[in-house]
Amino acid sequence: MKSGLNYVCGLRCVGCSAVCPLTENVYTCPSCGENLQIEYDYDAVCRQWSRDELERNPDRSLWRYQALYPVETGITAPPVGWTPLFRADRLGESLKLSSLWIKDDGRNPSASFKDRASAVVLSRACDIGCDLVTGASTGNAGSSTAVLAAACGIRARIFIPHTAPRAKVAQLLAFGAEVLAVEGTYDQAFDLCLSATERFGWYNRNTGYNPFTREGKKSVSFEICEQMGWQVPDLVVVPVGDGNIISGVWKGFAEFQRIGFIDRVPRLLAVQADGSDAVVRALEGDGKIRPVSGKTVADSISVSLPRDGTAAVQAIRSSGGIGVRVGDAEILGAIIELARGAGVFAEPAAAASLAGLKKAVSCGMVASNETVVLLVTGNGLKDIASVMKVAGEPRIIPPDPEKLVLYCRSGDEFRVARASELPHSD
Ligand SMILES: Cc1ncc(COP(=O)(O)O)c(C=O)c1O
Ligand SMILES: [Zn+2]
Repeated sequence: MKSGLNYVCGLRCVGCSAVCPLTENVYTCPSCGENLQIEYDYDAVCRQWSRDELERNPDRSLWRYQALYPVETGITAPPVGWTPLFRADRLGESLKLSSLWIKDDGRNPSASFKDRASAVVLSRACDIGCDLVTGASTGNAGSSTAVLAAACGIRARIFIPHTAPRAKVAQLLAFGAEVLAVEGTYDQAFDLCLSATERFGWYNRNTGYNPFTREGKKSVSFEICEQMGWQVPDLVVVPVGDGNIISGVWKGFAEFQRIGFIDRVPRLLAVQADGSDAVVRALEGDGKIRPVSGKTVADSISVSLPRDGTAAVQAIRSSGGIGVRVGDAEILGAIIELARGAGVFAEPAAAASLAGLKKAVSCGMVASNETVVLLVTGNGLKDIASVMKVAGEPRIIPPDPEKLVLYCRSGDEFRVARASELPHSD
């Protein structure tokens, strides 16, 4: 199978539709400044690649789809992608959905979905001989850049808001990134990183701004199609901040349809936090992205001005999809429901998927017989402080068997009893 670089025909602007060639320093549209989308000669891809050939490919990572990535080098270790997709029947029952699936992207090397983008961006950096990659991040994009940069011996210089959760900062430092904690928001870190990039000429991985990020993110849709035995789900639920994951998810399904691997595409459900709902507002209004406060407990989707908002709105509309907003309490509650209902530990932004799905079901936007895939985009260990707001605290006890008291069931209630007085089965 040839690399997709052989099939790239250009980059199309998501704003004015102008097309420009793939050059070393290409980021945004030279005419209007909007983001760019990489396009391939899909007929040529079809001639070279088939579903049968794909199914015989022993690679169990996102590189099994190399015919649709614009890179020569594939950074194969640590492996990214091909994360588990599994049925969540108990959780499904509680939502009255007959076919609910979870795609657990917390099971990537840096424990978030962002590794998909970083794998392709870092491969591009290798292709063009960069020795330093920079990027602004709420934490996950940065830590995933740091992991993959470490793997291929490239320096990483990452801008984060100084409030980023400690676990994400720990990852960045452990993987050897130079960490610049900006006294400001993610949006301010993004702008600072951009102006430094323009001034000093670094290679920039900023979400949406770098068109290779969307290329990596589309891999999740390729995997969903294959892992579901080519039965395309009816609905895919995606938490949205900058809107780059959801625009990538759409591109993946649209490309597989274009090359004839699937015959239909799912609707997308975009979930945003109340204070960070610029994409949902645009969907409800004229489609234009305008800044909002960006305030939410879910730090990874805490964005004032979504940097891939235009492409996100186009993606959701093209899919016939919908957007919902959820409150912080619903997001934190969903961490617990996902953990106890499906055995999956999610950080707040990732649990927002479930909170949004619940809302959409309760508003009648999703039918009970629809096949739904919930994207869980980041592991719960990324942000312990948030989950501890709702998980409760353990009881502190003395190391004395005689004083050991436990919860035991009494009818429908729980009571506390001495362990020595309980029957064995309690
Ligand atoms: C865990 C998690 N979920 C969702 C998102 C939202 O992705 P996007 O900003 O591309 O919309 C992010 C982005 O950082 C994330 O880290
Ligand atoms: Zn343009």
